[in-house]
Amino acid sequence: MPQVTASAPGKCILFGEHAVVYGHPAVAVAIEQRISIKIQPSQTGKFLLNGNNLDLTKNPHLSGLLDKLWPIKRGAPPLSFLIEGSIPPAAGLGSSAALSVATVAALRRARGRWISGFNVDDHAAWAEGYSSKITHTNAYSKGSHDITVNDDDHLTHIFNDLVVDLDECAILGHSVEVAAQSGRASPMDSSTCAHGGIIIISDIIEQSLTHLYSRSLAIESTRTQWQIHQIRAKFDEEVYLVIGNTGIHAPTGKQVASVANMLNNQPERINEIDAIGKIARRGIKALIEGDYDLVGKTMTENQIMLKQIGVSSPEREILIKAAIPSSLGVKLTGAGGGGCMVALTRNPQLTSEAIELAGGRTLISKIGAPGVRVDSASEIPLWKSR
Ligand code: PMV
Repeated sequence: MPQVTASAPGKCILFGEHAVVYGHPAVAVAIEQRISIKIQPSQTGKFLLNGNNLDLTKNPHLSGLLDKLWPIKRGAPPLSFLIEGSIPPAAGLGSSAALSVATVAALRRARGRWISGFNVDDHAAWAEGYSSKITHTNAYSKGSHDITVNDDDHLTHIFNDLVVDLDECAILGHSVEVAAQSGRASPMDSSTCAHGGIIIISDIIEQSLTHLYSRSLAIESTRTQWQIHQIRAKFDEEVYLVIGNTGIHAPTGKQVASVANMLNNQPERINEIDAIGKIARRGIKALIEGDYDLVGKTMTENQIMLKQIGVSSPEREILIKAAIPSSLGVKLTGAGGGGCMVALTRNPQLTSEAIELAGGRTLISKIGAPGVRVDSASEIPLWKSR
């Protein structure tokens, strides 16, 4: 049976949430929990999701990606999607970004790519596709702005695994997150789920880090620019993250607005935001050096500031307190309110049990799992675009 299956990891923020909104760096790591999507030709003539008819109005991410990569208007055939995974939804762990970037990888692999040369790595030779390196297609505008292929004679159709491009997965993943969240989505989740490892986002190009690309977006007449970087950390096989989920859904927008209100009323409290920025920079250095005792200590310092700016919650504090005795460092992760906390520990079982006893649900992961990948593909292409 023709099919493509792709998967992508979730993410967890180690340093710098909230301060990143004010230009400081934030550090996100890919976690081992993944979402996978299998696509096959539909046997019913309709798009299907987990065996039922797909309602595109209820699935803005899938709908946006089909517009971009599988345009029904241009004759792309109906597909059946099977989605499964272990990233809890609406917990700040990047489940929607993981699904989006995995879907991009699966659709691209299923479709292949037309190029005007023989080297698919040469973005200038792409006859179709989206990338921070090409300016003639726009991932952020509605619908498909891909190049239509008219003249196959001068083009080569590639459909091996080299057609999947991490930048394309991340930029299209970001574009559908932006559309689904009324313009308010940073590229942190999509880039971390696409590239895996450790991703750092900042408003300047950080000279000590490997710069991947810039992302730029107009949100309510203000243009925001992010610089996305990657670091090669020294990993320690003995160190784990234990993520504790309060099970309470706290919308990111509400938490970001509460920090903005605080700064409007008390502008001097920007000092606390700046302190988080300094702590994040120390955390990055400790990660690069592989000094995980210091990484943990720095996470705990970050938590003190997050609590001070009012984004923690009693439920989360209970889980944090339970994890402290067995951990190198503990903090909330993501926007705050409900959501999750994360502990860095050499005793993952002990830390996990302590958090569960205090009422949290836990996930255990090493730091920096692999990014999006195609797990299997057979009898492709499923559609040779024109
Ligand atoms: O809700 P999450 O895990 O995606 O985290 C949001 C992080 C913030 O810094 C609070 C907001 C942002 O857009 O960066």
